[in-house]
Amino acid sequence: MLRTHTCGELNASFDGHEVTLCGWVQTTRDFGKFIFVDVRDRFGITQIAVDAESNPEAYAIARQLGREFVVQAKGQVKRRSNPNPNIPTGEVEVIPQSLSILNTSEVPPFKIENETDGLEELRMQYRYLDIRRPAIASNLVLRAQMVKAVREYLDANGFLEIETPNLIKSTPEGARDFLVPSRLQPGSFYALPQSPQILKQLLMVAGMDRYYQIVKCYRDEDFRGDRQPEFTQIDCEMSFVEQEDILQMFEGMTKSVFKKIGNIDLPDFRRITYREAIEKYGTDKPDLRFEMEMVDLSGVIHEQLSVKTEPFVVFKKVLESKGLVTAIKAPKASGWTRKDLDSLTDFVKAPHRGATGLIWVRYAEDGTLKSSVDKFFSEEDLKEWARAVQAEPGDMAFLLAGEVAQTRKVAGDLRLELGTRLGLRQAGKWSLLWVVDFPMFETDPETGELIFVHHPFVSPHPEDIHLLDSRPEQARALCYDMVMNGNEIVSGSVRIHRKDVQDKIFGILGLSEEEKQNKFGFLLNAFKYGAPPHAGCAFGLDRWVMLMAGGESIRDVIAFPKNSSGRDLMMDAPAPVPDKALAEVGVQVRAALS
Ligand code: AMO
Repeated sequence: MLRTHTCGELNASFDGHEVTLCGWVQTTRDFGKFIFVDVRDRFGITQIAVDAESNPEAYAIARQLGREFVVQAKGQVKRRSNPNPNIPTGEVEVIPQSLSILNTSEVPPFKIENETDGLEELRMQYRYLDIRRPAIASNLVLRAQMVKAVREYLDANGFLEIETPNLIKSTPEGARDFLVPSRLQPGSFYALPQSPQILKQLLMVAGMDRYYQIVKCYRDEDFRGDRQPEFTQIDCEMSFVEQEDILQMFEGMTKSVFKKIGNIDLPDFRRITYREAIEKYGTDKPDLRFEMEMVDLSGVIHEQLSVKTEPFVVFKKVLESKGLVTAIKAPKASGWTRKDLDSLTDFVKAPHRGATGLIWVRYAEDGTLKSSVDKFFSEEDLKEWARAVQAEPGDMAFLLAGEVAQTRKVAGDLRLELGTRLGLRQAGKWSLLWVVDFPMFETDPETGELIFVHHPFVSPHPEDIHLLDSRPEQARALCYDMVMNGNEIVSGSVRIHRKDVQDKIFGILGLSEEEKQNKFGFLLNAFKYGAPPHAGCAFGLDRWVMLMAGGESIRDVIAFPKNSSGRDLMMDAPAPVPDKALAEVGVQVRAALS
């Protein structure tokens, strides 16, 4: 080893020890007779104090050092006369007998410190330098620790880690596939797995009960802060289990990782149905670090309007067309200014939300009520609204009206925005819950046809089998999501293992025999040979690490991520390839494009 210790471990208890450290030069501070060199590795920073008089040779080398030079310092640990309480090694410094340059470095394109001057695109181009910054390095360390804790739990519970192939046929997760052309069969393509869904089900048919895999998945979709084209799942499947067993097993895993990583004891997870989530929080992934439920005021307002000579037309029209008037309380917000209220109105009216307006009610500390619709509603009316949302003096309430689904969605967004402005969504506060009873099908907004919500192998809820023929859109599925601070972190389901049920579902989806065989023939075939009852789920590892790291983008917890247009800026991928290479794999892109 070129070193005896890391740059993060020396403290006063090492006083007088002979050590050798290696690392990168973070800074040098030249005080004439003394030069202080801060040397960094992924464990920390240690100060090397070079004295011109006692060691002229080391001093001469210290004078040559530039940022990010790689150095080795051999010497004695000394207590510092003026300790730095801000870093763990701040009590000590190393007085080198020898200092050597292991490698030089060009001046890096941005500051390699947590507070950097590098913009994200530049940092992604030089990701290997970005990772030297403790903020990113510590995320990768956390990620590795979490994966270790996951493996320990799954191992202790009898799971087997099994790899599945990356060059496969299309999998049914609903995104676009990344395709890989085949050289040996020109014109044919592999698809990269959107998940190992079908393969893990085949492993259950194969008897490999309790499978897991920490696995890359590939989806060609629009990228956001919480989506990457390639991401990692902790993919799991179990045989001879029911939904309850899966919920308990993976709630257990989540608790165990929180305990090991953060010494956090999570309480038992709350469970809510999909319907309740949509009705109360306007989303199937509610952030329950704070309550602030949406309250349906349609009934109350209908009554109030019925006795008015000049009713508020917005509400009247909405209620006549079976729309919704919904309200949310913002606790202790009665002091918000006109400007605050205007910016909230702009928020709900943003084109992608599309609300027509926002109505506010101010419940002042003195008990008086004022609203943006005072012309149409009496203080008595407002009091009734305030009662419905359980507002008290000092609170504010907001009302939205419109078509049911859209209004719930906007109110859900507004609820989150209010939560943020009220400081109710801090990092370090945890809300974990299961959302259960998702619907089996939804209507495709473009074609009007029924499509599956999850994938076509999800088992219908046993209580709703009778609805499959008459009212399939009302049937619930044995499907569940785990939601962490408003992020979908896990998704899974009990799978169909019986051919008659599978046939029925394919029938509802309108799949012809040919389509069934073409898309899923190998799975359906396998199911003829004794498929056990099975169920499973997959964690989005990147999202989970991001939340535990207190970050806002999964890019920060992936060593080499892609940018928002799916580019790897460091390797400059994707990149054109020569025509010859295309011809070899039977692809004629240029000809097709021209
Ligand atoms: P699903 O498609 O819901 O389910 O994916 C499971 C979890 O993976 C994460 N995730 C993503 N993370 C980052 N970038 C993406 N593009 C991305 N897409 C999904 C989410 C999500 O909850 N085969 C099923 C699981 C099962 O039924 O067992 C599946 O893939 O956190």
